[in-house]
This record gives sequence, structure tokens and C-alpha cells, in this order.
Amino acid sequence: MTRLRMAVLGAGLIGRRHIDTILACPGEAELVGVADPVAQADSFPQVKAPFFKTTEALLDRVKPEAVVIATPNRLHAPQGIDCARRGIHFIVEKPVTESLESAADLLRAVRESGVKSLTGHHRRYLPAIRHARQILNEGRIGRLVGVSVIWATRKPDRYFDASWRKEPGGGPILINLIHEIDLLRHLAGEMDSITGQVSNGVRGFAVEDTSGAVIRFVGGALGTILCTDTGLSPWTIEQGTAENPAFAFTAENSYRFIGTEGSLELPNLKLWSARDPQHRAWDTPLASTPIKVADSDPYVEQLKHFRRVIQEGEAPLISTEDGARTLAATLALTQAGTTQRPVELAAAFRALG
Ligand SMILES: NC(=O)c1ccc[n+]([C@@H]2O[C@H](COP(=O)([O-])OP(=O)(O)OC[C@H]3O[C@@H](n4cnc5c(N)ncnc54)[C@H](O)[C@@H]3O)[C@@H](O)[C@H]2O)c1
Repeated sequence: MTRLRMAVLGAGLIGRRHIDTILACPGEAELVGVADPVAQADSFPQVKAPFFKTTEALLDRVKPEAVVIATPNRLHAPQGIDCARRGIHFIVEKPVTESLESAADLLRAVRESGVKSLTGHHRRYLPAIRHARQILNEGRIGRLVGVSVIWATRKPDRYFDASWRKEPGGGPILINLIHEIDLLRHLAGEMDSITGQVSNGVRGFAVEDTSGAVIRFVGGALGTILCTDTGLSPWTIEQGTAENPAFAFTAENSYRFIGTEGSLELPNLKLWSARDPQHRAWDTPLASTPIKVADSDPYVEQLKHFRRVIQEGEAPLISTEDGARTLAATLALTQAGTTQRPVELAAAFRALG
């Protein structure tokens, strides 16, 4: 095993976390450069690698083996395509790109180049999510009937000082709900269609503040997601897991998978089943089993996985294509909310090529 020579493009909020993750994993990777037009090297005293004002200068001079693309969404496709043409593997932050068209362009470049790439839906690496997937795949709650998800929190007023957050594309559907869509695709299977309502009724910005989605999965199960960034509640996966220090920890569960033989709550795993396995109906007493899994940092797990994908041929946990399908399903909710019609996802998936 050799260390990956890695660079980070974009040293903002999440770029900083990737920088610190690489520095925390010296056995996996070496940080060889950072590109950001405004970030100052002296704000990153922990970084010994050179800083560049442009990604082109970094890629030309340092020639990294792999990068993390943590720049604004509209730069993901051009930077990913540039990396692919140069033979540089990459993790691209979510959303994979800002539109289906640019996602298709990026996918084409990845396929033609043969570089390895992941989309940064880091929650797939949470130990609780891995364990939940195993429980669902083993059929321990029987046949999946449905799933109910809440992501509801109140963003502070200062969050909206950046004006793009008030405009279409800057709201909770593309920033937050995309993670829930991705986890549902990962845990409940591919989506068939999505419909729903969107509202800007509380904040009154051009972008939504609240949405309600109804999903049909390929296997026939149904799902609902209520998502708002203007309601004070204990129910977001971030508050349930303490994965993000910006959110106050509540330890509450916000996902409920319901099957013919039982149910599963996330992210603090709790499995519900009939006390008497011979009698499974509404009059049977239920037993709940809390399941503890060891904590680990999903960004560290993502980096380790990325190295194994490149060096050991491990199958990507979330490829660019998979990330593009998550984007397609997420954008479909906005479309459904605007047109008041369900969106069948097969055509959007086909458009990705
Ligand atoms: N996985 C997650 O949970 C998660 C969380 C936050 C953000 N993100 C994603 O990460 C990306 C960045 O978000 P953020 O919150 O860190 O934004 P940010 O605004 O804090 O940081 C973006 C950085 O990119 C820099 N930049 C702009 N143009 C550049 C260029 N041409 N080359 C290099 N750097 C450039 C900016 O100067 C800025 O420092 C977005 O796609 C966002 O959706 C993902």
C-alpha cells in the first residue's frame, strides 16, 4: 500500500474538513496541495503543502494522483472533467453537479478516462447506516412496506447573509434533502417515481423553505420525507448522530423503516419486532432492541475507501453515476412541486447516459 498524493480544490467549510481528514490519515494519503482563489495559507497553519490561487496551477505544478473537489456546485463538472482528462481520480462533493446535463457530461468524461471517482455522500460510511443496510438486506423486518423521514431544523438568520441561499438551487432540497434521498436510495433501493409539494410560505424567499415528498420505490415500497429549514425540531440525522458539530445533539431518530415483520429506527438503531413471532398483528406486544455500533468518522472511512477503490479495485460505495441518480431524483421533487405532477424517474436516469 502506498499513500495517495492528494490535493483539495476549494478550502471553504467542507474543504477544510477534507484537508483535516487527509492530515489525520497519514497512512492513507499525503496532502500535496490546496487550490482556492481566496483562502490564505496562514489560516491553515496545520498545512505544510503549497496553496495555489487556481486549480489549473495546482494540477499543472503538483500533478496529484487524486483530488477532492469541494468547490461551489457549478464548478464540480468542469473541474471533474479536467481531472478525468488528466487521469486524476477524484471525490466530488455533493451534489455531484448542479444539473442533469452537466452530470451527464461529467459521467461521460469519467467513463472515457477510466479514473475512479466517488460522490461525497459521506453518510453512507456511517457505521449505523452500514449496519442498517445489512439488517434490511437480511430481511429482518420482513418485506419493506414504507419509510418515513423527517429532516426539520431552523437555520439561523445569519445563514442567509449569503444571498445565493435565498435563490432557486440554494435551498434545503438541493443542500439537505439530497442526503435523505441518497440514503433512501442506498437503504430502500432504487426509486421509481417521486411527487410532492414545495413551499416558501414561512421565509418568503424565491427558494423553498419546506417540502413534502412521496416516493415509490422499484420494489413497491412507499416513502415520505418532510424537509424544512425553518422549523425548530429535534429530528434531523445530524442532531441524532452528532456528526456535525454545528447541530445541537438530540439523540433522536428521524428515519422509520416499516416492514411486514417489524420496524427499524435510525440513526440510533432500534429494531422493533413481535414478542411472539407466531403472532404478528396490531394486538401483539412489541419488543424493541437498541443496537449499538462503534462510532467512526465517515470522512475518514470515505478516504480509506477511496484509496482501496484506486489501489485495490474495491467497488465504489457511491460512484459518480450513483451520485448523479441521487441528483436526478432530488431535482425531480422540485419539478413535481412546480408542475403538481408525479415524476417518473426512468427518463431522468436514461438522460444520464
Ligand atoms: N457532504 C456534505 O455534507 C457537505 C457539506 C457542506 C458542503 N458540501 C458541498 O461542498 C461544496 C462546497 O461547499 P462549502 O459549504 O464548503 O462552500 P464554501 O463556500 O464554504 O467553500 C467553497 C470554496 O471554494 C472556493 N473556490 C471558488 N472557486 C474556486 C475555484 N475555481 N477553485 C478552487 N476553489 C474555489 C471558494 O473560495 C471557497 O473557499 C458544495 O458543493 C457543497 O454542496 C457538502
